[in-house]
Amino acid sequence: MNAIDLEDRHTSGLYHKRRVVLVRGEGATVWDQNGRPYIDCTTGIGVASLGHGHPVILNAIAGQASRLITCHELFYNDARAALVERLNAVTPPAIDRFFLCNSGTEANEGAIKFARRSTGRREIIAMMRGYHGKTMGSLSATWDPKYREPFEPLVPEFRFIPYDNLQTAADAISDNTAAVIVEIVQGEGGVRPGSTGFFQRLRELCTARGALLIVDEVQTGFARTGRMFAFEHHGIVPDILTLAKSVAGGLPMGIIAFGDRVRNLNKLTHTTTFGGNPLVCAVARQVIDYLVAERIAERAAQMGEYLLAALRRLNSSRVRQVRGLGLMIGMELKEPAGPFAQKLVEHGVLVLLAGTTVLRLLPPLIIEREQIDFVVEKIATVLA
Ligand SMILES: Cc1ncc(COP(=O)(O)O)c(C=O)c1O
Repeated sequence: MNAIDLEDRHTSGLYHKRRVVLVRGEGATVWDQNGRPYIDCTTGIGVASLGHGHPVILNAIAGQASRLITCHELFYNDARAALVERLNAVTPPAIDRFFLCNSGTEANEGAIKFARRSTGRREIIAMMRGYHGKTMGSLSATWDPKYREPFEPLVPEFRFIPYDNLQTAADAISDNTAAVIVEIVQGEGGVRPGSTGFFQRLRELCTARGALLIVDEVQTGFARTGRMFAFEHHGIVPDILTLAKSVAGGLPMGIIAFGDRVRNLNKLTHTTTFGGNPLVCAVARQVIDYLVAERIAERAAQMGEYLLAALRRLNSSRVRQVRGLGLMIGMELKEPAGPFAQKLVEHGVLVLLAGTTVLRLLPPLIIEREQIDFVVEKIATVLA
């Protein structure tokens, strides 16, 4: 039986799958089982930022796997120590501690717990169209009712306010608020960048009212938007920063980064078996070193501008808006985007959706100009 039949029969059935069996990747290209190449603008949903099969990642995996794969935080470990040193170097001075876990939703679960514990308050304010994951705590902060409602009652005292609206934020954040959780560019919610005025006001309000500001950079972190972290575009520093996706080059990792506004954490009130294992730590450390040494954030900014401008030049009557930051780009159509994503597969380009009408592009940050040209040409073809 082939891979499609086996997966259709025995996986959960919870995903919309495209009927392509991917078996190999190199750089920005992936190949299916028939040897057909595709330019990958999905990167495992923003994971493979350095592309597929990057030698730095392969060497880090092989080197660490042959030394020590697992070592609980019950003990100290050299690979973990080297990683937290790097994380400390690339985050602002006010962020100097890192809880290492395994995914984006897990990072947000912990952030919510840390905020409640630090402030002694319960209320969490999240954003309309925000996305923070699908485990019960993070799901309580995820806006789309179709994900939340089937599982209610969720965690109490979560409320939603409109994204990028200063007045409602000022009205909502109070001395009862434990935390505000926000994305700098809403990813799943349609690739929507927020404004500097909004983020600065959130920062001021949280400080003034004793609430913590949680910035979820699970999708935007580690150079995706043209800065190491997207909050750097807006001159703010969060109290808690959540990270995941691309940090370990494709291996699963999440991080809760924080400083002294997080306090009162009692021993063992938040733990994980796999988090901070030497294998992922060694890879993440090499990924961060590579991002810094090769100035990948700057590259993402330049390539992102190039791609955004080329997509805007298409001037298709089907397109409502092209927007984004760095190499995180959304093309909002005036009609459902799914059929176009499907047609692009036939033309050798893999893209994502964000909601029903947005084509979302998260190519590897190492994508070449000619590959971008190819993607744009194919998008023009399917939109024609
Ligand atoms: C901003 C944001 N937060 C959290 C998550 C959840 O991450 P994970 O799927 O690793 O649980 C995602 C996933 O797309 C995300 O984009």
